[in-house]
Amino acid sequence: MEKAKKRILSGTQPSGKLHLGNYFGAIKQHIALQDEAECFYFIADYHALTTIQDPVKLRENVRDVALAYLALGLDPDKAVFFRQSDVPEVTELTWILSTVTNMGLLERAVSYKEKTEKGIEASVGLFAYPMLMASDILIYRSHLVPVGKDQVQHIEMTQDIAGRFNRAYGNVFPIPNYRLDKESKVPGTDGQKMSKSYGNTIEIFAEGKPLLKTIREIKTDSTPVAEPKDPEESNLFALYSLFATEEEKAALAARYRAGGMGYSVVKDLLYEKIESTFAPARERRKQLAQDPAHVENILRKGALRARAEAQQTLGLVREAVGMHAKSAV
Ligand code: ADP
Ligand code: TRP
Repeated sequence: MEKAKKRILSGTQPSGKLHLGNYFGAIKQHIALQDEAECFYFIADYHALTTIQDPVKLRENVRDVALAYLALGLDPDKAVFFRQSDVPEVTELTWILSTVTNMGLLERAVSYKEKTEKGIEASVGLFAYPMLMASDILIYRSHLVPVGKDQVQHIEMTQDIAGRFNRAYGNVFPIPNYRLDKESKVPGTDGQKMSKSYGNTIEIFAEGKPLLKTIREIKTDSTPVAEPKDPEESNLFALYSLFATEEEKAALAARYRAGGMGYSVVKDLLYEKIESTFAPARERRKQLAQDPAHVENILRKGALRARAEAQQTLGLVREAVGMHAKSAV
């Protein structure tokens, strides 16, 4: 298929083991889009510094995201895949953009307000988090940013910032749009939205006994085995549905409604689905993990492509504001 001219960009924070919410909410769509448009995907390690201050942990998490994307099907010949910090130009653009951004805009950021309301002491980095994100998006002159609902406000802030810059200095940036990921709420083992911060995740690459243990822990109601059950009310059913065909879903829904089936049956079905769906990716991940130089090479090649693009944009920006396109020395 002829690739559309649109440029798609998204970032993933390396903040812990990736889970089914991340996969169905983000990664799956990201990978599918590599066949439709020019995609830039990066591992947001500068952003992760706002929460992780442990170099060993940061490196390990970055590696985890890289392995996950590659094992799950990201093709580095199709999408540009890189580490955010391999393109340090993005921090320079962050500064320049910060000079056209009002404090009030950042003060209204929900993610920041939520954190400070919980009593988390905010660093300047956490406060300025959306600035760096705007810079990520604008430095690659991206058109479309696939994200989950929680990130929409950040994209709207990016639109605002790009507009302000363009009005002050001329049209350098396309105004980006977001694209809401389809599966916006994968439930966790306790029925709340699956999230690292709730400790209710099912990891994508879990397998065998630990996976089974997690699945056994999924909360269910106390309807007796013999009674009919409502599949729409069951987070086990919702999780199963992510993997099942329409026919499989309909068949299981009928068994729920008929009664006589306990939740442990559904747990076994879910376990088998997760095991089999991710089996090829797990295998690829194991192979990639044995060859860190190969993975590093992919990220570096991606960074070279990304960096060339970033340098070009930054040159335009520097010139627009009255500097040399490149440092004069
Ligand atoms: P967590 O909540 O575990 O910290 P992140 O905020 O790092 O996850 O999530 C990264 C992306 O993964 C989000 O922008 C969103 O698109 C997706 N995501 C995370 N959890 C879920 C979920 N439970 N359902 C759907 N999408 C999710
Ligand atoms: N803030 C995003 C998240 O937590 C990650 C991210 C950083 C990002 N920079 C980005 C997403 C630019 C899209 C575009 O999920």
